[in-house]
Amino acid sequence: MKNTVSTLLSQKQSGKKITMLTAYDYTTARIEDECGVNSILVGDSLGMVMLGYDNTLPVTMEDMLHHTKAVSRGAKNAFVVADMPFMSYQTSVYDAVVNAGRLIKEGGAQAVKLEGGAEVCEQIKAIVDSSIPVVGHLGLTPQSVNVFGGFKVQGKNYERAAKIIDDALLIQEAGACAVVLECIPAKLAEIITKELTIPTIGIGAGNACDGQVLVYQDMLGLTTGHTPKFAKKFADAGALMREGFSAYIQETESGSFPADEHTYSVDDDIIEHIKKERGKNE
Ligand code: KIV
Repeated sequence: MKNTVSTLLSQKQSGKKITMLTAYDYTTARIEDECGVNSILVGDSLGMVMLGYDNTLPVTMEDMLHHTKAVSRGAKNAFVVADMPFMSYQTSVYDAVVNAGRLIKEGGAQAVKLEGGAEVCEQIKAIVDSSIPVVGHLGLTPQSVNVFGGFKVQGKNYERAAKIIDDALLIQEAGACAVVLECIPAKLAEIITKELTIPTIGIGAGNACDGQVLVYQDMLGLTTGHTPKFAKKFADAGALMREGFSAYIQETESGSFPADEHTYSVDDDIIEHIKKERGKNE
């Protein structure tokens, strides 16, 4: 059964933790879905983990649509949330509604996610009024990396912490169906989770949140270089891939691949016939 906004809300109410993972392609979405993840986020993190940019700012609506379409085909049960890329909603309420509509109508997502608090409430309200569920995103909002001066923990002083709480309440009031809390102190996330009636989904925000989300490349050991401390490595798929690629190269170079069991056969008399025919023409 396809998960919906109501599934996530009832999980908050019953205390059953919500599981969300990113995916950007059909195969990964299908595997996550078969494992029973509640929700799949087509994050604009795809700019970094799929396209190799330094941050999420260059990601376009066309990038998001391309990947959202693939994920939607693979997610039979999971609730698919698509990120609205940088400058697809900040520019105007009209742009926000049109671009959110494309992610649902063309991309096949069930909800959109956008970053920010008070400053995007008008956009959230207008999108929700167009019958599109919106997930908010507060704390370390990567599209504001140039304002933050890097990917840093947010809400560490009183003013910043109070602003995140206020923003959470405002986006709930504007109609958001859930909110991602990224890289904020666990105690702050706990206060927000208790105050809100909508689910909180944490990433680097402790275990009091109603659910968790991780970038799948981080949790499968596929990212290289610095990974944040909250990105627990649940499996080392990177090592498995290296092992597989190296074995393929070695066996192909040595000629042991393909072996008989990887090869198609044909009746000998057909080959004899072909050889005879070709001999005639030489
Ligand atoms: O883009 C993304 O993957 C995200 C998660 C980090 C929550 O927004």
